[in-house]
Amino acid sequence: MLQKISDLLNEISILSIKNPEELESFRLKYLSKKGIISDLFEDFRNVSVTDKREVGQKLNLLKQSVLEKYNSLKTELLTTEDTSSAMDLTRPSFPFSIGSRHPISIVRNEIIDIFTRLGFIVSEGPEIEDDDHVFTKLNFAPEHPARDMQDTFYISRISSEDSSPEDILLRTHTSSVQVRVMQNQKPPIRTISPGRVFRNEAISARAHCIFHQVEGLYIDENVSFADLKQTLLFFAREMFGKETEIRLRPSYFPFTEPSAEMDVSCKICGGKGCNVCKYTGWLEILGCGMVHPNVLESCNIDSRKYTGFAFGMGIERLTMLKYQVNDLRLYFENDLRFLDQFKTAF
Ligand code: DAH
Repeated sequence: MLQKISDLLNEISILSIKNPEELESFRLKYLSKKGIISDLFEDFRNVSVTDKREVGQKLNLLKQSVLEKYNSLKTELLTTEDTSSAMDLTRPSFPFSIGSRHPISIVRNEIIDIFTRLGFIVSEGPEIEDDDHVFTKLNFAPEHPARDMQDTFYISRISSEDSSPEDILLRTHTSSVQVRVMQNQKPPIRTISPGRVFRNEAISARAHCIFHQVEGLYIDENVSFADLKQTLLFFAREMFGKETEIRLRPSYFPFTEPSAEMDVSCKICGGKGCNVCKYTGWLEILGCGMVHPNVLESCNIDSRKYTGFAFGMGIERLTMLKYQVNDLRLYFENDLRFLDQFKTAF
């Protein structure tokens, strides 16, 4: 039996095949139920106890070699087949999946596109910021609740009592980029700043600890509230359609005076009232106002000479309105079943 095994090992080592039929004969001859290997295992029962160990090892080795040979012949056949003249040029190619843009990116790009047409340029700032840029220079009082640990992710705090300029934190809004731009550029300034922001919120369908905003800033001589209103009306009509109306409601932000919140007429019901606009006919989309003189001064801009407006909007909020996807968590899960639906948008 040992002799037989060794002969077979030699036999298969030099064996070659030319086509799939020969490969199949190889399989039948050696590896099928009635093949040589099976027969040998059948005979193995009769081997004497003393020889069993040695013969068993050799037999396993043979089986292993035959399997390896079979696999290598198979791959050889596949690769030669592809390059042979038998290649079928009409065969459809393998489908490959095309990626899609994330809905947040689609809407962010659209916002950028609209404002760049008005001469705004994009500027960015760091996500890890200091207290000075996120709060102090934006006229937040030291005891302002937004500075609270409940809202803000602190990376390091000098003292828990009051805030120091060295406190390092994750920015809670993109308004911090306003400060950086004003510190580094001279008016006229016309900029928008898209980016990620962070707030210590429990994650649910309506709130998330990470989201996206776009900040806008325009500073020059004689900039008025009317300029702000026209700019935002232009934006709203480009974004939501020519028929869109806007309304401004008085509001409060430490860094603007006067401040307002802007609503757009509900696109779904045309202002008649539906469950998306909670039967008011209006949807709130952004905060805005005239830059507070304290903010201009804290960034070394002469508030007697220059005025300006600012606005800030949440990209998730606009995306929800645009695509009617009302669970914020979907934007962060990267589930392809969700993302695939945006293939035709760009
Ligand atoms: N930073 C504000 C927020 O996160 C949004 C905002 C409101 C930005 C008014 C502005 C503004 O520039 O003028 O809620």
